[in-house]
Order: sequence, then structure tokens, then C-alpha cells
Amino acid sequence: MALAPSYGAPAPVPRHVAIIMDGNGRWAKARGLPRIAGHHQGVEAVRRCVQSCTDLGIGYLTIYAFSSENWKRPAAEVNDLMGLLRVYIRREVSELSRNGVRIRFIGDRGRLAADINRLIEESEEQTKANRRLTLTVAVNYGGRQEILDTVRTIARRVRAGELDPEMIDETMFGRALQTADTPDPDLVIRTSGEQRVSNFLLWQSAYAEFVFTPTLWPDFGHADLESAIREYQSRERRYGGAGG
Ligand code: FPP
Repeated sequence: MALAPSYGAPAPVPRHVAIIMDGNGRWAKARGLPRIAGHHQGVEAVRRCVQSCTDLGIGYLTIYAFSSENWKRPAAEVNDLMGLLRVYIRREVSELSRNGVRIRFIGDRGRLAADINRLIEESEEQTKANRRLTLTVAVNYGGRQEILDTVRTIARRVRAGELDPEMIDETMFGRALQTADTPDPDLVIRTSGEQRVSNFLLWQSAYAEFVFTPTLWPDFGHADLESAIREYQSRERRYGGAGG
């Protein structure tokens, strides 16, 4: 079904979609496979989703690939996820670039292996001029940590006498975050039936619409994205106002 309604002005697609990709483990378990098999299929779902977003004219896609809490998983699974990240960047970056996708990473890079940091920097550099879609990958990311880091940066500027505390407002704060030049997400999707934010884009998603789908991430496809967008389009966003 087309995304635009058949009457009146077509409802706009969200400018920025953010996704909490959940359910890889359950997808694998249901098939008697190791969890890594679910993560592998999860990468395929990422590829499909990036393609769908470019097809639909979505400007920004942010995906939660590894949270700062994911280090608590068994070392073997952490290694598998880091390995997949390496493979994803190495394999996909040329095609992403050909398709006009700019790739960026948010999260604390300090704990990532040196070669992953190199791949991250190279892929960001290689794709920086692309404008069709900005794909932001959150790796070792936590929303509270991001806010605290930003508070620390701003506090240092205040201590150095460069900044008057009265000048700190939402715009200024937002510009000091890692997501500074990315608009806030309009739509946040979480797959697998869980209904939690899990420390994802806490500041940025203040006015986002949330859509929760029972689909497990490895099964998430174009139709699921379209369905989430239709739900988003059916809602009235009031940003705290009274509405029309
Ligand atoms: C949640 O499933 C998923 C993750 C913790 C990681 C998401 C990672 C990928 C999709 C693959 C890597 C991505 C890139 C871009 C290389 P879960 O393991 O928590 O599933 P469960 O809740 O069913 O156990």
C-alpha cells in the first residue's frame, strides 16, 4: 500500500527514523540456532532497512547496534558483535557511498578496538560528502552517558570563563551532543515486542513518536517499516501544545 493517503496533501514521511533493533537472540533460538546466527540475519535486516529508507526519501536513519550495557553479555557474543561490525563496515561502505549514504557513528569510542576505530574514521571520511541518507550507527552508546559527557564539556567551558551558565539552553546543549548536526528523531521504532527506551537517544527523542512492533529484528522488512510510518503519519504531533 502506498504511504500517502489518497485524499488531501500526502502526509510527510518522517525525516529521521531511529531504530532499537531487538530480537536477534529470540529469532535464532526459535530456529535452534546460536545467537550469532540471529545477529547475522540482523545485519541483513540493516541492509534492507537502509535501502528502504533511501527508497522512501527518509533523510536520517539511526540504529542502535551496541549499547554501553551490551558489554555485560558473554565475551564470545561481544566478540561476535564486534566482528560483525568490522565486516559490515568493510563490506558495505563502498555500496553505501555509491547509494549516497553518509555513515556516522555515535557512542564512546574509547573502549573499541583500535582497528574498529580506524574503520569508523575511514568510513566516515569516505562518505562524508553524501547527502541522500545519513546512517548513524550507535556503538558503545548510552543516552545518559552522552548527556553526562556533554554536561562535563559545558562545565569545563564555564570553569574556563568562556561561557555564562545563563547562556545554556536547549539549542546550545543539543549542539554540544554527538548528534549536533542531526535533526531529532521523529519516529523511534523498537522491534520484538519490548516497550522500553533502553538508554537510546534520551535527549533527542523528547518529542518523538514511538512505534513498537512484535516483529523480531531479523524479520524486519520494507512492509514493517511502511507500517510503522503509516502509524506515525496517523498520529497528531502536538509538541505539548493543544493541537488544531
Ligand atoms: C538485540 O537483539 C540486538 C543487538 C544487541 C545488537 C544489534 C546488532 C545487529 C543487528 C547486528 C550488528 C549491526 C551492525 C550494524 C553491524 P538481542 O540479542 O538482544 O535479542 P534478544 O532480546 O532476542 O536476545
